[in-house]
Amino acid sequence: MLRRHKSEQLFETAKKLFPGGVNSPVRAFRSVDGAPLFIKRGDGCYIWDEDDNQFIDFCGSWGPLILGHNNKNVRENIEKTLQNGTSFGAPTVLENELGQLIIDNNPFIEKIRFVSSGTEAVMSAIRLARGYTGRNKIVKFEGCYHGHVDSLLVKAGSGLATFGTSSSAGIPEGFTRETLVLPLNDQEAVKQCIEMYGKDIACIIIEPIPANNGLLLQDKSFLEFLREISTENKILLLFDEVISGFRVAFAGAAAYYNIRPDIVTYGKIIGGGLPVGAYGASNEIMACISPLGDVYQAGTLSGNPVAMAAGIAQVSMCLTPGFYEDQEKRTRYFVDKINAYARAKNIAFELVTIGSIFWLTFGEHGAIQRADQIDPATMLDFKKMFGVLLENGIYIGPSGYEVGFISTAHSYEILDEACSRFYKVLDTFAH
Ligand SMILES: Cc1ncc(COP(=O)(O)O)c(C=O)c1O
Repeated sequence: MLRRHKSEQLFETAKKLFPGGVNSPVRAFRSVDGAPLFIKRGDGCYIWDEDDNQFIDFCGSWGPLILGHNNKNVRENIEKTLQNGTSFGAPTVLENELGQLIIDNNPFIEKIRFVSSGTEAVMSAIRLARGYTGRNKIVKFEGCYHGHVDSLLVKAGSGLATFGTSSSAGIPEGFTRETLVLPLNDQEAVKQCIEMYGKDIACIIIEPIPANNGLLLQDKSFLEFLREISTENKILLLFDEVISGFRVAFAGAAAYYNIRPDIVTYGKIIGGGLPVGAYGASNEIMACISPLGDVYQAGTLSGNPVAMAAGIAQVSMCLTPGFYEDQEKRTRYFVDKINAYARAKNIAFELVTIGSIFWLTFGEHGAIQRADQIDPATMLDFKKMFGVLLENGIYIGPSGYEVGFISTAHSYEILDEACSRFYKVLDTFAH
């Protein structure tokens, strides 16, 4: 049995300090059993908790750690930068360096603005889209998460092309009245919505690789269709690449599918494990942002030197030739082995994958491309599997709707070890 005594004690203290004992809800282990594990250290693909259990980690801090934990280059660049202080509220050469690295290697953006989180990137990008077009409405898709921006914490109402209703208390109805919520991968729904509201729509926002409600891989033709219909109707296409950016290719899903968005948001990997987000677009669109234009957006710690240093070190490594091919190859190797084992044992389990992202699915199903195609009953299977995975030294995000990530630290040797542990876990699902 996993030792959990210290984590349990720490969680009791945390519950007195923070709502639900955590500073971000999914960490609370509400969808699985037991208290959350308090992590004290990470190195490469491993993490250790306060009870000294060691795990092969596939959560990777929810995506940022594409080089694994405590990467030497990232750590050394942070340490070097720290010698000179932590923040100045004035421009630094490090912002130029990270900005240049990104723009030189990303054909989709000409200017970028650094912020401090994915949520902030999306919130600013939406304001930019509204400021640029002079329109108010935005279209989002059910099953895509864009951070906790008021106007995007919405779920679909009944019927197609309906205004969203808030999915969180504390958001006035008026804030979501301008948000239209549509099903993913459904061209007809988009056409109908644009027929009704097209002239008022500032942007269509989508996670081109939806990875926050399962991994809902879209048909490329759907994303191409969004590009075309947006252009025809002078609507901006906003790719939220907070997860997919620097993950499936350096220039994200836009490069992976070769589709040009008008505005892109980034987060996670761009900060090397420190708090960074960003949004970018053409010179023309970005000229709307203050101090050049009249769309206001600012941040005391935006472009923070220590965070920039971490980002520079990490993003530079991602530019190594063959980086993404290698990431994808190792991920495929892992996924294929586990899927083959499940098939051979007649276990209704499959890992779905793209790039170095994977998602655990249960039961018999075809392609899952929309949120409503996920059977909520399978979350009980996830809950069981999560517990057995922990017992076998494998850590993944504690929710069946979340995806797993593979880093450069997950060597073939470690993936083989992880597969052997996974097989043992799968055996508990065999009939
Ligand atoms: C696609 C997407 N957009 C936005 C966000 C919000 O980013 P953050 O948690 O850094 O605010 C996330 C976070 O997971 C995300 O996955």
